[in-house]
Amino acid sequence: MLATNQSTIAPITAVDAAVICVEDIHKYYELGETRVHALRGVSVAVHGGEFVALMGASGSGKSTFMNILGCLDRPGSGRYLLEGVDVSQHDKRALALIRNQKIGFVFQGFNLLARTTALENVELPTLYSKVSNEERHTRASEALAMVGLADRAEHFPSQMSGGQQQRVAVARALVNRPSILLADEPTGNLDSRTSVEIMEVFQDLNDKGLTVVMVTHEHDIAEFAKRVLVFRDGKIRKDEPVRNRPRASEVLKTLPTLED
Ligand SMILES: Nc1ncnc2c1ncn2[C@@H]1O[C@H](COP(=O)(O)OP(=O)(O)O)[C@@H](O)[C@H]1O
Ligand SMILES: [Mg+2]
Repeated sequence: MLATNQSTIAPITAVDAAVICVEDIHKYYELGETRVHALRGVSVAVHGGEFVALMGASGSGKSTFMNILGCLDRPGSGRYLLEGVDVSQHDKRALALIRNQKIGFVFQGFNLLARTTALENVELPTLYSKVSNEERHTRASEALAMVGLADRAEHFPSQMSGGQQQRVAVARALVNRPSILLADEPTGNLDSRTSVEIMEVFQDLNDKGLTVVMVTHEHDIAEFAKRVLVFRDGKIRKDEPVRNRPRASEVLKTLPTLED
């Protein structure tokens, strides 16, 4: 049902190239006299085309790890290679540049601008890149089509359901053609059917080659990924493939619609 247009996703040059390679990273937060050791030696590689779910108790370091993957923060020690480039020592400016080019973010709250149409919301990240208005429009329309919302371009967030708003947020994350989609609890504010609808979008994008890393605390959401990493006390304690992964599009057929 979702559009098949692939042009908003960066092509994968070598299928098994590690998109993300993290080596023994540590992260400390200084809080007055105390020092929180949030990541305690995390090493992992994520390859192009993977779909990884991060699980673990609250406070186990998931968001800290995602912030580093997304170049919002730097590790205290250790290395982070993003598409083969060591970004661990990059300053804020360099990180912002890389983030804008390579990373798409989706959060629990959709963070859409209220007085702005779906299309304009999706166009926002392109304002920092040197593209013509026409190209900006084209890319945003393509991204909306990829999440199945081509017909909602002129709608405002208040005229859309939570699931539709989250899909607009996913389109916004895709518009700069990132290599990685990072999502921190993307279904945290959604009912169960709508959550599976978002997983349908993620599986569809992942099928087209996008690498996805997603935090969730729900087992039945993590199952839609191909691999699950479990964090505990700042370390990865489990790293397992998902067996018999369900297709969200199939699961949806078994779920009641909430309209009635
Ligand atoms: N900005 C911060 N300042 C101080 N401590 C923090 C900050 N962010 C997170 N922490 C601490 O780091 C640890 C890991 O937090 P976090 O990465 O948010 O875990 P999770 O996302 O798994 O709930 C926790 O002990 C948390 O209290
Ligand atoms: Mg968190």
